[in-house]
Amino acid sequence: MQRRPQVMILGTGRAVPEKILTNTDLEQMVETSDEWIVARTGIRQRHLAEPGAALSDLVVEASRSAMADAVVGADEIDLIILGTVTGDMKFPATACLVQEKLGVKNAVAFDISAACSGFLYGLQIAEGLMMSGGYRRALVAGGEILTSMVDWEDRDTCVLFGDGAGAVVLGPTDGERGLLQACMHSDGAHADLLYNPGGGCIHLPTAENAAAKLFSIRMEGREVFRHAVTSMGAALNQVLEQAGLSADDLDLLIPHQANLRIIEAVAKRFKLPMDKVYVNVDRYGNTSAASIPIALDELRRSGELKKGALVGMVTFGAGFTWAAGLIRI
Ligand code: UT7
Repeated sequence: MQRRPQVMILGTGRAVPEKILTNTDLEQMVETSDEWIVARTGIRQRHLAEPGAALSDLVVEASRSAMADAVVGADEIDLIILGTVTGDMKFPATACLVQEKLGVKNAVAFDISAACSGFLYGLQIAEGLMMSGGYRRALVAGGEILTSMVDWEDRDTCVLFGDGAGAVVLGPTDGERGLLQACMHSDGAHADLLYNPGGGCIHLPTAENAAAKLFSIRMEGREVFRHAVTSMGAALNQVLEQAGLSADDLDLLIPHQANLRIIEAVAKRFKLPMDKVYVNVDRYGNTSAASIPIALDELRRSGELKKGALVGMVTFGAGFTWAAGLIRI
């Protein structure tokens, strides 16, 4: 049964570093080719933060833009949730640093570690807190500087990731519009298929561990691919069924942007034509938690998010974690 939405998106924003790394640039760094990268992933370029750049600055830029779009001031935000696995520091939470930089005084701010699912987790946690905890205006962001943990000698992974941030401001619904249905899942049984071993309490920051590349992303690409297609399909199916809707009802699907072939496989499962499926992985690569809010902002600013449209969102990432949501614009 379709339930009435409780919260809606009031505004969106995004920010990416200026510098662009093309596939041709990568050809000079590792044994790869533009042809291989485009054919196997759909990626043509990605944005790259300067070494040592602060993620909080990217998130602040995206958040300011979302707050301006929503016409919501810093004094009105009472909840800040940031999905990230590449925060400024181990602690405090980068959301607290964002809070300070934005001048938001009366809010609770925290990070969520759910990798590529961080934004959709954040959206649902914010909705739950707004419904039960009385919060009125939430800033939900996803942001990553994943290139800070890329091993630039590993061609299996270094061609895949990019940096960026996206944010939305949530407020109470004005009626029929907003988050209709959502789900979140995780399964730690597959934690070792996509992870960054170092930086925690097990592998200390020694020269030996750095030489063993323990501070870089490790991924079993083929296995992750397989799980991503299955789990994203299951999550999207779940929210559609719970809402009493079918894929035909979707005006647009915004899938997590990791690989064009994953996106196409999910679209095929639901018999969705690709003109109903948003793709920007060619321009950004995989920005993890930032990919869905960046897409939302691009669509909103280009006027493609039409009032009344039904938009699906679905993601999959390390953990494993996966999630989906349906929004009436
Ligand atoms: O954000 C959510 C988590 N991430 C994902 O969803 C990513 C999921 N996985 C993938 O997107 C794909 O598995 C990859 C893009 C990572 C890899 O594509 P694939 O089609 O699964 O390739 P593969 O790993 O099976 O490798 C095929 C070949 C191998 O060579 P051999 O063994 O066949 O000789 C690789 O060594 O391609 C080779 N290869 C490359 N060649 C040129 C791997 N990376 C590269 C590269 N350039 N960058």
